[in-house]
Amino acid sequence: MDSLSMPILRDINLTIKKNEFISIVGPSGSGKSTLMHLIGLLDTPTSGRIFLDNENISQLSEERMAKLRNQKIGFVFQTFNLIPRTSALANVELPLIYAGVPDEQRKERALKMLQAMGLGERVNHFPNQLSGGEQQRVAIARALINNPSLILADEPTGNLDSKTGAQIMEILKKLKKDGNTVVLVTHDLEVAKIADRIIKIYDGKII
Ligand SMILES: Nc1ncnc2c1ncn2[C@@H]1O[C@H](COP(=O)(O)OP(=O)(O)O)[C@@H](O)[C@H]1O
Ligand SMILES: [Mg+2]
Repeated sequence: MDSLSMPILRDINLTIKKNEFISIVGPSGSGKSTLMHLIGLLDTPTSGRIFLDNENISQLSEERMAKLRNQKIGFVFQTFNLIPRTSALANVELPLIYAGVPDEQRKERALKMLQAMGLGERVNHFPNQLSGGEQQRVAIARALINNPSLILADEPTGNLDSKTGAQIMEILKKLKKDGNTVVLVTHDLEVAKIADRIIKIYDGKII
């Protein structure tokens, strides 16, 4: 078997219910990000099926995947992944532009979301003018702006000091309390424990 046909994930059978807060925990290289990319329509599986809100999402066109990603998934990454030299406000507005929301409404919604993240005074700052914790809160505001079905956070505290990381975890907890569905991916069992349910993954398998 050549390296390209090496399976990364095997025998994965996982159901995530609405308003659940689950964590996927496992060592580096165990397949957590791959699983998250499949759930989040950033990648397609070579076999098996994935359903999101009862729609089979495992074999969709690129366009349909992009549309669903925009409508239904909110991503939070370790490296924040904000657009550089673009204000916090514009970063949060971006998913609304793709969704075709008119300009006025967009500004208002993005502003409200940033205020809810405690960033009302930072809306015109560029990412490089913000602390790591602030950047991650902008990223969370962006993830939430389209009322996604699912929030996927991949090592969201990985680039933050422990105090700031704890603040971000509190925000994730609150998102769940507000009715969101949250999947937290982490290599750190202590971090994973914040969730209602922990899925352990090792060598591409749920254990
Ligand atoms: N695009 C890719 N092409 C081939 N192999 C990959 C790719 N991305 C990740 N892998 C491999 O898949 C395995 C799981 O990686 P990943 O899902 O990133 O793990 P984790 O997030 O748990 O650290 C690793 O062995 C990695 O080398
Ligand atoms: Mg990873």
